Amino acid sequence: MLAAQNSQDVSAIPDLDEEIRRLKRERNAVILAHYYQESEIQDLADFIGDSLQLAQAAQKTTADVILFAGVHFMAETAKILNPERIVLVPDMKAGCSLADGCPGDRFRAWKARYPEAVAVSYINCTAEVKAESDYIVTSSNAVKIVNAIPRDKQILFAPDKNLGRWVMKQTGRDMRLWQGSCIVHETFSLQKLMAIKHEHPDAKIIAHPECEEPLLERADFIGSTAALLKFVENDNAQEFIVVTEPGIIHQMQKRAPQKQLIPAPPDGNCACNECPFMRLNTPEKVYLSLRDLEPRLEMDEDLRRRALVPIERMLALS
Ligand code: 13P
Ligand code: SF4
Repeated sequence: MLAAQNSQDVSAIPDLDEEIRRLKRERNAVILAHYYQESEIQDLADFIGDSLQLAQAAQKTTADVILFAGVHFMAETAKILNPERIVLVPDMKAGCSLADGCPGDRFRAWKARYPEAVAVSYINCTAEVKAESDYIVTSSNAVKIVNAIPRDKQILFAPDKNLGRWVMKQTGRDMRLWQGSCIVHETFSLQKLMAIKHEHPDAKIIAHPECEEPLLERADFIGSTAALLKFVENDNAQEFIVVTEPGIIHQMQKRAPQKQLIPAPPDGNCACNECPFMRLNTPEKVYLSLRDLEPRLEMDEDLRRRALVPIERMLALS
């Protein structure tokens, strides 16, 4: 037994990764991790994916406990889809600028101004906003789902204006956009990106659709984190400039070890291309969360049922 049993101090544990694996077995738990998690957490995970793949994995799992190494809205989605499980969030402060910038009451008021419109919301939103939406989408299925909506319908798209604008271009649909953005993807500097491209003329620029339009215009390929990963694996190029959160590079490097992956730099002299919310999760917090089965994500059952409807519509179309 460990001295640190009831303590928050885990420094006395000789092999934290091994303890986490032991607790996973003991609790019958799975760790689901987003590609933006730090490498050590990705290596401890049972499943790593983009937002859609993680939602699908959360829906399917029969484990008693889901530890969600991602951000709050992802854990909420897991609870909505699989309410019988204990859903753990290692740090409850792991929010998202997109979800935080679209409060339920303001979203409801916006929607009420367009009573005939279809409300499409990016999965990066709260359960309250999901419950008010007709469809949920992720960056990997937004184009497909918007294309499936009858062309005579007006569409409201929330909360990411950059993803929304890109979907408008791909589908030719005119959508009314909520003016939200991701604080990570809006930090990339076009000037620095072009300077890197100048140094590596053969490198392909690959970008997430949460990036701003001038950067997307320069990209050779645009897609969700899972799509970017697949592109690096399958494309003939040997160098890639990766314009998204650099956590994804860990899996890219594993799947394509011979290729050179260059993270796109942020505008300032900071690490602001790393998501401050995703990076709140640490192996120490993962351990404590599995040990104490806290903090747990709980949800009002009426809210859960209403939020489930547009997520199930998305999954049926994915
Ligand atoms: P995807 O996982 O859909 O690529 O989205 C990236 C993201 O920003 C998650 O918060
Ligand atoms: Fe939200 Fe952006 Fe962080 Fe994803 S990367 S969780 S969109 S703030």
